Amino acid sequence: MSHGGVVQLVVRDVRLVDGPARVDVAVEAGRVVAVGHALPMRGRLEENGGGRLLSAPFVDAHFHLDSALTLGRPRMNRSGTLLEGIALWGELKPTLDIEEIAARARRYCHQAVQKGILAIRSHVDVCDPRLTAVRALLAVRAELRGLIDLQLVAFPQDGYLRDPGAAAQLEEALDLGVDVVGGIPHFERTAAAGAEATRRLMRLAADRGLRVDMHCDENDDPQSRQVEVLAEETVRLGMQGRVTGSHLTSLHSMDNSYADKLMSLMAEAQLHVVANPLINITLQGRYDSYPRRRGMTRVPELLTRGVNVAFGQDCVMDPWYALGSADMLDVAHMGLHVAQMTSLEGMHEAFAAVTLRPARALDLGLGAPVVGAPADFVLLDCEGVIDALRLRPTRLLVVRGGEVLVRARPIEVEEAPALARLAAAVGRAADGGGAR
Ligand code: FE2
Repeated sequence: MSHGGVVQLVVRDVRLVDGPARVDVAVEAGRVVAVGHALPMRGRLEENGGGRLLSAPFVDAHFHLDSALTLGRPRMNRSGTLLEGIALWGELKPTLDIEEIAARARRYCHQAVQKGILAIRSHVDVCDPRLTAVRALLAVRAELRGLIDLQLVAFPQDGYLRDPGAAAQLEEALDLGVDVVGGIPHFERTAAAGAEATRRLMRLAADRGLRVDMHCDENDDPQSRQVEVLAEETVRLGMQGRVTGSHLTSLHSMDNSYADKLMSLMAEAQLHVVANPLINITLQGRYDSYPRRRGMTRVPELLTRGVNVAFGQDCVMDPWYALGSADMLDVAHMGLHVAQMTSLEGMHEAFAAVTLRPARALDLGLGAPVVGAPADFVLLDCEGVIDALRLRPTRLLVVRGGEVLVRARPIEVEEAPALARLAAAVGRAADGGGAR
């Protein structure tokens, strides 16, 4: 491609996450080929960014597509606890069929792409002799390839050892093409059984050359220490960088001196950590009176040690969580509040926790729009990261492989003359986009 040539796409006049300079981004054959001021090439498609923020796509490192959008079936979760959620799901699960699950997953993925999510790691419950959800989500993964990357985790919701069918079904799910080995050691009958489940699942993943992502220590028990076993097995099997610990809420309640030692082990194991702020703040602390614990894992402390921490969404409108909107900026907003990441650096970390960091955990090659990277990005109706977190603005463009999947316009507001005069007086441009 020559300098003055014609390329697939040029997005003009955008700001990037790490700098105030306004640049153009040129794309050819699905990849970014140039980033710079007033690029000379022309695009077969030209988009004007108007000085707005062009970000890496959002990635959701922890989700459950099989239960999403089932809210109220068979009834609402009255206690608000994880355990009532598991019981409700246990009632609903046998009534579901492949087409129903696939239809909900498609509906959710459509919402997710509109919000700029281009990759989701979804746990899929294998505690079902028919593996209905596995079959449904494998079909949807194939169907949506090229639009959104779905990475599936074989998740034994009722316990790998506790449910007598789980072990065989989990292996069958992997044989069918599920990508990642899951687990839920804190839900086994005893702590010792949890450790045993983790060891077996890690062995299985090592033998098959697969990555691991376990729900781990999702409770408020300072003695719940399954992640210690997960990290130790990771080092022992040489699986550094290929294992994720999800939730790890018990870390919130642990003794500081033990937590210090544990986090060093997690860094040594190069564990990825996924906190799920919306869910953790909702489900944890339910057995407390006051003060009531937040329950989210120690995000800033883990980041300081070099651990890759991402924020996941976990649930949208299901037995565990009645809300959710497929907006990873809601997740980052909650996460930075709960973790008190309100410094400039902290807010940038919260943004990275829903973009670059989950991409690294999933190892999918998604990243910032730099030369050579896939042309996957999102244009937000704001000028910087703080406004993105503050306003959760409209996704004006969602681009995948240089193809515009979504184009939206800024929201237009009609105002009565008196209010329009006020708007003119305060200066709409200086307003920071509050009406958007
Ligand atoms: Fe989960």
